[in-house]
Parts: sequence; structure tokens; C-alpha cells
Amino acid sequence: MDAITALHTRVSVSRVRAPGPDPLTLEQSIKAGLRTADHGLLRPWRFLLIRDKSLEKLANLFADASLADTPDISASELDSIRSKALRAPLVLVGIACPRQHPKIPITEQHLSTAGALQNMLTAAHALNVGAIWRTGPMAEHPIVRHGLGVNESESIIGYLYMGTIDGPVRQLQEEPINMFVQDW
Ligand SMILES: Cc1cc2nc3c(=O)[nH]c(=O)nc-3n(C[C@H](O)[C@H](O)[C@H](O)COP(=O)(O)O)c2cc1C
Repeated sequence: MDAITALHTRVSVSRVRAPGPDPLTLEQSIKAGLRTADHGLLRPWRFLLIRDKSLEKLANLFADASLADTPDISASELDSIRSKALRAPLVLVGIACPRQHPKIPITEQHLSTAGALQNMLTAAHALNVGAIWRTGPMAEHPIVRHGLGVNESESIIGYLYMGTIDGPVRQLQEEPINMFVQDW
């Protein structure tokens, strides 16, 4: 798929299954992320790839975090929370690791990391890999952060759930650009 078509047609795919992206496809997607606009070329990001048995460890972290918050949580709720980590054969965690810089605020470094995730999503779409960006409480919970090795100065910007498209893909609703754009 050419770049403009990919940019114009990307949609999130929430239902994915194994197999996850093959190594070359994954590498191409990550390389797209690394070409993101990045003030001062600080490379203020890092990415964790969670797959195979590590997905169970992520599920356990989600469960531990939920149990810490709600000690009387029901077994079925806990199962449901665990299952969120197992929705895809690959979970890519995008972590902003900003540093103090005289000219480049931390916010810009977070934005660059978000841009990297968006580039990866678009590349995944171009390569026919289903992917969706999720956050929620599990992106901020101290137990999850600690378990993933995210330090105090870092932030989880998103989880990309990636895999083989499973089922119909949502139809695009194109919006007229003049709803969002004005001459000034
Ligand atoms: C920063 C960020 C966080 C998001 N977190 C979630 C989330 O936790 N759960 C969810 O279902 N969608 C989440 N989304 C939205 C989906 O990734 C997706 O963009 C949305 O469902 C619209 O679908 P589309 O990307 O096909 O337009 C998030 C998007 C962004 C940019």
C-alpha cells in the first residue's frame, strides 16, 4: 500500500489473533516510528515488545494492580482484566523517556513518542497488520509501571495491541476537511 493510501485509510483493529507480525513486518513498523518528528533528535522513547509467555506476565501485572485497588474484586472481573492483556499476540508498549533540556520541554518529548506510536500504527495498517492503541488505568498504575521497569521520569504513552486481523474491519467514515480547517 502506498503511503498516502495508508494515511488516508488507517483504522484501528480491536479484534486480532495470532500470529503476530513477522520479524520483518515488525521491524518495518518500528522503523516508521523512529522517523517521527523529534525536536533536537533526542530520541525520547523506548519500546517494549511483549509476546508469548510474557503476555501472561503482563496479564498478571494487570490483575495484581486491580487486586491492589479492589481487594474484593470478583474472580470473573479479575479474569476479564487479565484477558485484556491477552487480546493480541503482540503488545508493544510505547514509553516516553524524556530528559531535561534547555529548549525542548518534556511535553514535546511525550508528543514525539505519541507520534512514533501513530507512525507505527499507520505502518502496521499499510502492512495489513491489525493494531489499536490503548491506554486506560493500566498505563498509569504504579504496580504495572514498576513491573514493566518504567522509572519515575518515564511515562507509558500507549500500548499497541497488534496481530492478524480477525473479522471485519470497521468501515471508514470520511469527514470533510473543511469541518476542521479554516483559512486565517
Ligand atoms: C492516546 C490514546 C489512548 C487511547 N486509549 C484507548 C483505550 O484505552 N481504549 C480504547 O478502546 N481506545 C483507545 N484509544 C482509541 C483507539 O486507539 C482508536 O483510535 C479509536 O477507537 C478510534 O478508532 P480509529 O483509530 O480507527 O479511528 C486511544 C487512542 C489514543 C490516541
